[in-house]
Amino acid sequence: MIASSLLYGLLAAASSVKAYSHAKSIDYTVITGIFQQDEAATDPSTFNFTASNFGLINRTYPSDSSCPDRQHTTQWQRLAHYISTLNKKALRNERYALLFMGRHGEGYHNAAESYFGTPAWNCYWSELEGNGTVIWADPKLTDQGIAQTEHVKTFWKQLIEKQKITTPQTYYTSPLYRCLDTAKLTFTGLKLPRNKPFKPVIKEFLREGISAHTCDRRNSKSYIHKHFPTFKFERGFAEEDPYWTEGFAEPSQDQDIRSKAVLDDIFANDSSTYMSITSHSGEIKSLLRVLGHREFRLSTGSAIPVLVKATTLNSPPPSTTILPYTPQKTCAAPPTIRDSSCNDCSCCT
Ligand SMILES: *[C@@H]1O[C@H](CO)[C@@H](O)[C@H](O)[C@H]1NC(C)=O
Ligand SMILES: *[C@@H]1O[C@H](CO)[C@@H](O)[C@H](O)[C@H]1NC(C)=O
Ligand SMILES: *[C@@H]1O[C@H](CO)[C@@H](O)[C@H](O)[C@H]1NC(C)=O
Ligand SMILES: *[C@@H]1O[C@H](CO)[C@@H](O)[C@H](O)[C@H]1NC(C)=O
Repeated sequence: MIASSLLYGLLAAASSVKAYSHAKSIDYTVITGIFQQDEAATDPSTFNFTASNFGLINRTYPSDSSCPDRQHTTQWQRLAHYISTLNKKALRNERYALLFMGRHGEGYHNAAESYFGTPAWNCYWSELEGNGTVIWADPKLTDQGIAQTEHVKTFWKQLIEKQKITTPQTYYTSPLYRCLDTAKLTFTGLKLPRNKPFKPVIKEFLREGISAHTCDRRNSKSYIHKHFPTFKFERGFAEEDPYWTEGFAEPSQDQDIRSKAVLDDIFANDSSTYMSITSHSGEIKSLLRVLGHREFRLSTGSAIPVLVKATTLNSPPPSTTILPYTPQKTCAAPPTIRDSSCNDCSCCT
């Protein structure tokens, strides 16, 4: 057990160091005032992104006067023009990018957590592969989860046709099945520009925060390739999951370090201005923290756009210390209480 947590520490350290090697430090700031999700007044628990044009605020931009044919230009077209003027005026080490970050649709693990209640789920059921009826190890989408992806696809169709949105130039996804499938079901079959096809890249560090739950353990590379043959793997993607460790959990501090590493890797290798990321509740929360965005919790199947300014500094990134995984407490039998007051499993019976 100790050995495997040490092994993780080494693997994680090696991997982050690799992602950082010869790289310069990148600073991220969020350009606010563009989306409702940036504003303190917007309540994440009631906000509906498909009912509100992705949260795009109706406003003028300083670049509107140079926008061709202004009356017939949508808010999204004027935003695209604004971002392009920001990039033209930016210093050589600065750039602006619009990230669309989507959470996967409902998976069997989400349904099971609601069914059993959070304490019984966290302390007992989540460590199993399933319950004989459903499997929640690297779970698939439920029917409800598939319906959510169809809803989001219809939303993108409308954004493309009516709002004239600029679609992503590149797509990234977590290696967990629910994200791979969400990205596939959402973006396959849309009328995307020929030079900006849906060719997602699978990135290990876009995965969910790693706990002892089997829903955090990915399938093998060959399995993923068999089910998603058009998806590309980032360089160095291992055949078997090198990170999930039975009985152990990744400290949240480590999660933010690898979220920064994956963003740096994306920004260092991809000069795109429009990028899509399909990931998880906890991981998008971590990415938002690294970007300096306010906390904005996404329900399953929801997405958030963020306009980011990235500044590459002429110095190496500050050194970081990766903590070893910590043992995760469990109960020998499922706790009977249903409220989430016992996430540390103090209510084992
Ligand atoms: C969001 O609004 C759309 C209508 O635009 C509706 O179809 C959808 O069910 C709403 N989503 C939620 C989660 O309430
Ligand atoms: C934004 O503008 C559109 C189109 O002009 C309009 O349909 C929509 O209601 C406006 N939204 C807000 C929040 O004012
Ligand atoms: C297994 O869990 C699911 C909830 O995810 C539930 O619907 C099903 O009834 C459970 N099966 C058994 C045998 O308890
Ligand atoms: C991404 O960028 C980093 C830093 O510049 C580099 O070390 C790495 O090899 C690049 N990865 C890919 C896949 O190009």
